[in-house]
Amino acid sequence: MFSKDIYIQRRDTLKRLVGEGVIILMGNNESPCNYPNNGYYPFRQDSSFLYYFGQQRDGLVGVIDVDNNRETLIGNDIDIEDIVWYGSVDSVADMASQVGVANSAPMSALKDICDQARAQGRTVHFLPPYRHDTMIQLMDLLGIHPSKQREAASHALRMAVITMRSAKTPLEIEELERAAAIGYRMHTTAMQIVKPGVTEKFVGGQVDGIAHSYGTQTSFPTIFSQHGEIMHGNPSMAVLEAGRLALCDCGAETMEHYCSDNTRTMPVSGKFTQRQLDIYNIVVECHDHALQISRPGVKYMDVHMSVCRLMTERLKELGLMRGDVDEAVAAGAHAMFLPHGLGHMMGMDVHDMEGLDQIYVGFDEETRPRLDQFGTNCLRMGRRLEEGFVVTDEPGIYFIPALIDDWRASGHCAEFLNFDLLETYKDFGGIRIEDDILITADGCRFLGKDRIPYHAADVEAYMAQYR
Ligand code: GLY
Ligand code: MN
Ligand code: MN
Repeated sequence: MFSKDIYIQRRDTLKRLVGEGVIILMGNNESPCNYPNNGYYPFRQDSSFLYYFGQQRDGLVGVIDVDNNRETLIGNDIDIEDIVWYGSVDSVADMASQVGVANSAPMSALKDICDQARAQGRTVHFLPPYRHDTMIQLMDLLGIHPSKQREAASHALRMAVITMRSAKTPLEIEELERAAAIGYRMHTTAMQIVKPGVTEKFVGGQVDGIAHSYGTQTSFPTIFSQHGEIMHGNPSMAVLEAGRLALCDCGAETMEHYCSDNTRTMPVSGKFTQRQLDIYNIVVECHDHALQISRPGVKYMDVHMSVCRLMTERLKELGLMRGDVDEAVAAGAHAMFLPHGLGHMMGMDVHDMEGLDQIYVGFDEETRPRLDQFGTNCLRMGRRLEEGFVVTDEPGIYFIPALIDDWRASGHCAEFLNFDLLETYKDFGGIRIEDDILITADGCRFLGKDRIPYHAADVEAYMAQYR
């Protein structure tokens, strides 16, 4: 937890930005597995609740009555049976005072607070919910059916939270650096143990253990697969084979729940083949290019497009694409290889604030609507960069057999693609390289003191030390 002044200041700013009404910030509840007492799914506090109320316990709700400048932490104190099984925890009143909140109340008080505010014709602001238990709570409190809650959520509150959480403060950047240091250990461990004969699950499990050992947990389910062309490929019991590539996309959360998110793609044998290098070096060049051109005032949509053009130019040189580069990119032909966006905001959520709706987090009046074209329609960040923003830079080139077949059959972008050559790449897999960029006053830099090797020679030299 940060010092109480941080939370007091954040809530003061939130009150000023929202202006009126009662704000309720729902903390998360436990999520049991198979039976109520099996806390198998790890508890993760809601990030916006954490940002304003700092407490990591389940079953809490933060209430900010803007009109009366009254703040209350709502939650039930645990009873003697809970103490027997789980140990003592601070009372809700103590937890309130630790984050500078003057009042506390049991959960039963929340309905009265909401009823009274609504009877007075005041707005009850809540954020778009993403968990079904929270939706049931909101239905009981406000009488809004879960299917209508995301659209009924407060736009003023959403935009205030996005405004505040987008630019990271020096304190938050320290946390993100801590997460990057754990991420460095995760990825270099993968490079150490990747070898023919080892299962994907073994590597994934070792990497996850590091996140659990040095932070709270991974920042998202680890992607580790020889099928790098599957965007979210979970580690399987498949055995790593010499000659193939393994893609590792993983990150950690610090104890304060700030994230890292990096991807490396490595040769299982420790050495890239020439065919792999030809593609790998294009991804490296795109990755470095994004770092070179990202700075305050530049639209991340333009960085994404610039990377797409560079990738298309290089794929043309390999004979995989053809025709005019600008026309190919305008038609979306590059999405055969890069069917996702260049990056997303990152902070307390690995896809920061995605629950508040990406079209408001990553886009604004100037950059909406987002281009509705396959590939770019997955871009999560398009607006102008500002100092303190943290975004991922994650270009990739994938050979997706089903997509090759689909586009070939329909003739989609056929004038820009060499389908005969693509056919010979169906066994290639996919490559992604990802790092997290902090936008500084006059440019940007990668987060993380130690760079996880990514230039091909550095990856090979690092892996060679462990075989
Ligand atoms: N791991 C998901 C992502 O990189 O966005
Ligand atoms: Mn990632
Ligand atoms: Mn990412």
